Amino acid sequence: MKMNWLLMTAGLAATAIAASIPALADDPILIKFAHVVAENTPKGLMAERFKELVAEKTGGDVVVQVFPNSQLFGDDKVLEAMLLGDVQLAAPTLSKFGRYTEVLELYDLPFLFEDLDAVERFQQSPLGQEMLHSVEGKGLIGLGYLHNGMKQLSASKPLRTPEDAAGLTFRIMSSEVLEAQFEALDAAPIKKSFSEVFMLLQTNAVDGQENTWSNIYSKKFYEVQPYITESNHGLLDYMVVTSAEFWNGLPDETREQVAEALDEALAYGNQIARDKAIEDKRKIAESGRTEIIELSDAERAQWVEAMKPVWQQFEGQIGRERIEAAYSANRP
Ligand code: SIN
Repeated sequence: MKMNWLLMTAGLAATAIAASIPALADDPILIKFAHVVAENTPKGLMAERFKELVAEKTGGDVVVQVFPNSQLFGDDKVLEAMLLGDVQLAAPTLSKFGRYTEVLELYDLPFLFEDLDAVERFQQSPLGQEMLHSVEGKGLIGLGYLHNGMKQLSASKPLRTPEDAAGLTFRIMSSEVLEAQFEALDAAPIKKSFSEVFMLLQTNAVDGQENTWSNIYSKKFYEVQPYITESNHGLLDYMVVTSAEFWNGLPDETREQVAEALDEALAYGNQIARDKAIEDKRKIAESGRTEIIELSDAERAQWVEAMKPVWQQFEGQIGRERIEAAYSANRP
């Protein structure tokens, strides 16, 4: 990840804003890092690693406090809180930036990426890196991407073909693309925060949801959903984000140290994402609490056919060039 542009542009603003950093001369600078998932996930473990690396690299001048499991803010409030200075770092899913930019909706398009290698190639390309800047006009700075993985569909009944999902209710993240994706199946999507999902499933308030193996495992969704279809139909990744006011107000050297710590923590978290997709799926399968449905090629083709029209619906706001570049990352 390239941090240089951030470091250079921030340098000028730093002097002007340094006075706004809420610290006395010898007090450490505090970074509150709020997220919604469990500690034992790619994001949870990345956040802990970041905390350690920041302590090492800044010699204690910066202290990171991690708040997992929506303890401090849910994803619906965290970005507003960041702009108010109540939290300094977060890593919402790319699906949750709709109020700040439309271009990140790209990452929600169904069947766009075949695997994390393709995602990585696109995210590290100039176009993928440029998309990190898309929230800057709103006072936020995208510092980097973090993987979680490909999403699977879970439900109260077996889903083998798109027709099986018709008429069911699905919890979704706050994304228009995801809404359109489930509407394309004649299903009813309901936007709800992550902290509510287990209860919604347990009480049958919704019939299903889509998520990664690590979220399904760590939040025990598999205990209250008798079927999981291994659809790999979409991506769930994150953008680590901070406020421009906080970032630009850090002393130059400190900003460089924190940026370095984040680069290392992201590399660590990205490897964990790959490992957990395999491990957590295995643990779910071994639990015997749910049936994992594997799709035949013919069945999978039906899901692609049902969901892919969503691309055209959002081409105008995402940009055709971005969609084509992302899709071509599947064939390096
Ligand atoms: C997350 O992984 O941060 C939350 C995902 C979700 O809201 O489903």
